Amino acid sequence: MQGGSDTAKAGAPAGDAHVDAVIAPVPRISIQAFCESPEIAAIIQEAVSDRRMDKAHVKVHMGGAPAAVEAYRSAPTPNVIVIESAGERNTLLHSLDALAEFCDAGTRVIVCGKINDILLYRALIARGVSEYLVSPFNVLDFIRSVSHLYSSPGSAPVGRTIAVMGAKGGVGASTIAHNLAWAIANGHEASTVIVDLDLGFGTAGLDFNQDPPQGIADAVFAPERLDINFVDRLLSKCTENLSLLAAPATLDRMYDFGENAFDGLIDVLRTSVPWIVLDVPHVWTAWTRRLVIGADDLVIVATPDLANLRNAKNMLDTLRSGRPNDGRPKLILNGAGLLKRPEISTADFAKAVELEPTAVIPFDAKLFGTAANNGQMIAEVESNSKIAELLGELAQAVTGRTEVRKSKRTLFHPLVSKLVRKKA
Ligand SMILES: Nc1ncnc2c1ncn2[C@@H]1O[C@H](COP(=O)(O)OP(=O)(O)O)[C@@H](O)[C@H]1O
Ligand SMILES: [Mg+2]
Repeated sequence: MQGGSDTAKAGAPAGDAHVDAVIAPVPRISIQAFCESPEIAAIIQEAVSDRRMDKAHVKVHMGGAPAAVEAYRSAPTPNVIVIESAGERNTLLHSLDALAEFCDAGTRVIVCGKINDILLYRALIARGVSEYLVSPFNVLDFIRSVSHLYSSPGSAPVGRTIAVMGAKGGVGASTIAHNLAWAIANGHEASTVIVDLDLGFGTAGLDFNQDPPQGIADAVFAPERLDINFVDRLLSKCTENLSLLAAPATLDRMYDFGENAFDGLIDVLRTSVPWIVLDVPHVWTAWTRRLVIGADDLVIVATPDLANLRNAKNMLDTLRSGRPNDGRPKLILNGAGLLKRPEISTADFAKAVELEPTAVIPFDAKLFGTAANNGQMIAEVESNSKIAELLGELAQAVTGRTEVRKSKRTLFHPLVSKLVRKKA
């Protein structure tokens, strides 16, 4: 049940070096471990400094499964939760069931235990646990099992893309995209990349007070060089968890792209970064259409006037036929309540486009203007403001945290392929 198969070992040179060489680097995921023994805590702590774990954010806590249940009652779950349980079978299964209630979609669970028993293993897999590591195991065994979650054939990609597009130019789509990315990175402690796709005029660099020498143009004009190490060098760090792939915002080149121009870049980002926010400019071309239709989640930003209403409706209709099996995009009404401006009411707007807005963000020239001028996010300018709160809630709604919490999922992310592999 555990350990490498005989066939895998037969052709390998002596020692474990051959096996170790094939451990793929762990992507930019967040990992939280809840240990019971100092020995396992030490193994995980040691793994943190391994080169293959460079990009992962790891926190080691004590207290085992009960501490995890307590921690996630009110906080979002990371990409991977590691639970050590030295106890007997039923206690472990019981705690995992309790934990499942608070587990967000996409979170993987690795259990470390002492009981080497196929029935327990099956019970864990049936609960959607991704991996069961039986003691004694070493640092590399641990890294290998985390790495496998993301690199084994058929494993789900790490990253989820969220495309943000305005129903008109200048409606605040980029501002919302940047604040959304910031809120996901900070609020959820998850690695996030904001991709500025407005190559000629994008403002993400200004908004985050960054002036990186390289960015998205280097990636898109050198598709043959694309891999995660190359893209990594193009990212500039805004906060602990947020990186920016900036637009050149210079006009010396033409930015006419083919439909698939950004495919390679997005694929590479998806293998490594959990949250990818795409700030898509308000133009309707083959490549913008492809980006929004291909995104995992979509946010449409509109101001409540007639042109926005017409465009939002057209976008929603087109997207509905282009993504027949996906949920509706999220609609944000931005800049509502501007003094003396005739506006379409939220209710009328929602009725006409047949979609309730996820958030209605008021017009606030002072707050948004200060943020833009200072190269800061709204929550950095006024963390207690209603608008900062709305943007935080938007991040929760887009990442599915709130909905998931309400629906009380009963299963972790199942990894059936794992069971198949173990059986083989
Ligand atoms: N709710 C708001 N109230 C006031 N100004 C806003 C609001 N949202 C955005 N802005 C401002 O509107 C301008 C255009 O925003 P931007 O995000 O660049 O729009 P888009 O990407 O849709 O073209 C920016 O100066 C921004 O600070
Ligand atoms: Mg923009």
